[in-house]
Amino acid sequence: MNETEQQLRLIATSALKSIARNEQIKQHVLESESLYPLIFRAARRFIAGETRDQALPEAIKLISKGYSVSLDCIGENKTLEKECTEAKNEFLQLVRSLRGTGHLSTMSLDLSKIGMMVDGELAYRHLEELLREASLYGVTIMISAEESFKTEQIVELYKRAAGNYVNVGITLQAHLHRTERDLAEIQHYPGRIRFVKGAYQESEDNGEPRSERLTEKYLRLVEARVASGHPVSIATHDEAILGELRRRGYLGQPNVEVEMLYGIRADLLKTLKDEGYRARVYLPYGKEWHLYFFHRLAEYPPNLYRAIATIADRVNTPDEEAYY
Ligand code: FDA
Repeated sequence: MNETEQQLRLIATSALKSIARNEQIKQHVLESESLYPLIFRAARRFIAGETRDQALPEAIKLISKGYSVSLDCIGENKTLEKECTEAKNEFLQLVRSLRGTGHLSTMSLDLSKIGMMVDGELAYRHLEELLREASLYGVTIMISAEESFKTEQIVELYKRAAGNYVNVGITLQAHLHRTERDLAEIQHYPGRIRFVKGAYQESEDNGEPRSERLTEKYLRLVEARVASGHPVSIATHDEAILGELRRRGYLGQPNVEVEMLYGIRADLLKTLKDEGYRARVYLPYGKEWHLYFFHRLAEYPPNLYRAIATIADRVNTPDEEAYY
């Protein structure tokens, strides 16, 4: 790729990430009878369905093939208490549907969907209700990472929950400068830590772009957590990172699993699972796939070409999910 192409790619990535977090566009697409189904055709590749009833059979299918799953009714930034309570109720139903799958299922959520944008106490009350219910069924709840301006509050709510419940985990973004400090502060809690590179666009003051330095940092964070003996999810599709962790003997440790997003590098996850490594699929469902979908387009340009081809009904190759 020459310099101009590289520049254009950076501009396109940045534009897609700002479309991803534009609430007005999100609302417009959600409410449009013509746009929503059209774009959903392309998003469907990364989404298990629009409802819990559509997502659960996919989860069961993956479990029967030897994967663990993490289900998430996606969405974020709810600013009305009523919407937060509705979201919490959906998660409550989801937890109940996961009874019987035990340690094979976790549930993921954004705290900004269940109350954090209204009031931290509301988010904590909802989280506690979910954790109590989840603990009855042996289900772990994973808190997702959001934009860096929310990280302080997310980590504080996590610490409060982790002081009282063992079935709560957190997602940390390797690209944020603060993450090594956050890890040091929460390292003693036994809950699962999921390491991701970070999807949100951050300023240089807050975060590190994709680079060798970020790879090194990612490896350091994973090493520190594996050594603690507590559960770790290596949540990346980066073959070089996974290869290096395998070479260093970390992938096969009893507290380690590899987790990937539904519909992305299914071939690689299957290979790892077939080699005997623990493999989990993050399985989102729901109608609020806007931010999630545009992040997936932004981080891998061929997804954009494929999305356009799908919208134009020109795709004949099997979807990634066929590889699981
Ligand atoms: P990177 O982006 O460097 O990509 C490495 C390689 O992976 C690419 O070259 C390509 O081969 C493949 N790849 C990556 N993305 C792809 C895509 N969209 N389509 C096809 N191939 C792709 N982020 C966040 O900010 N908060 C969160 O809570 C979460 N939660 C989360 C859970 C789980 C289970 C995963 C796997 C990821 C997240 N993320 C997240 C997203 C994460 O931060 C990151 O944006 C993506 O995982 C992409 O980064 P990689 O580590 O894959 O590396």
